[in-house]
Amino acid sequence: MINTIAIDGPAGAGKSTIARRVAKKLNAIYVDTGAMYRAMALFLIRNGVARDDQEMIGVKCEEAEISIQFKDGEQQVLLNGENVNGLIRTEEVGNMASMSSTNPKVRQKLVELQRKLAESTSVVMDGRDIGTYVLPNASHKIYLTASVEVRARRRYEELLAKGEQCDLQQIAADIKERDERDMNREFAPLKQAEDAVLVDSSEMSLEEVEDKILSIAEQ
Ligand code: DC
Repeated sequence: MINTIAIDGPAGAGKSTIARRVAKKLNAIYVDTGAMYRAMALFLIRNGVARDDQEMIGVKCEEAEISIQFKDGEQQVLLNGENVNGLIRTEEVGNMASMSSTNPKVRQKLVELQRKLAESTSVVMDGRDIGTYVLPNASHKIYLTASVEVRARRRYEELLAKGEQCDLQQIAADIKERDERDMNREFAPLKQAEDAVLVDSSEMSLEEVEDKILSIAEQ
């Protein structure tokens, strides 16, 4: 039987870490939809498209072919055939992705790819609109969130561990701005689906969140 688990929530809530672990336990494939929006954002940055030029974003996105492959169970995002996994985790790309993902043409293209992936195999898919729009009939839906302070601190520590220079206040401001945009865009905004279970991870450990989601998936 094909199982689909949708995990939505704001930036930095820990969705990808949790989704990856849950997928492993359930023998499902982890699909990171944010990485697809990031690959598209990288393409737009490389082509000199301004973050706020929606018309150009709509035109240029037609030239980007995004596909994914799995290597040792890890999703690899290909942008016009180039593996860009190592290039999309920067704040610059994340901020562009938050802007360009408001464009209906960008969304249409990537949602098609996401739905196809979930047709033939069990997936744990994370993003912003998976339970509300991409997979409205998902077997289980989770809305994973945490306070802005906790999310900013987690991202800050992640970046520090990678040796990147960063400023906690700036990260918190970026997160707030991104929440605002993701939640208020016209097309498929971030919101909790009516049938999603809310999990607030602000005061939970990784293991506690994982156990909670596994228990929901087993219901
Ligand atoms: O989860 P992330 O930080 O990698 O996502 C980057 C941006 O992509 C995020 O700000 C909004 C967008 N996104 C989206 O609009 N819909 C999704 N399903 C996933 C991500």
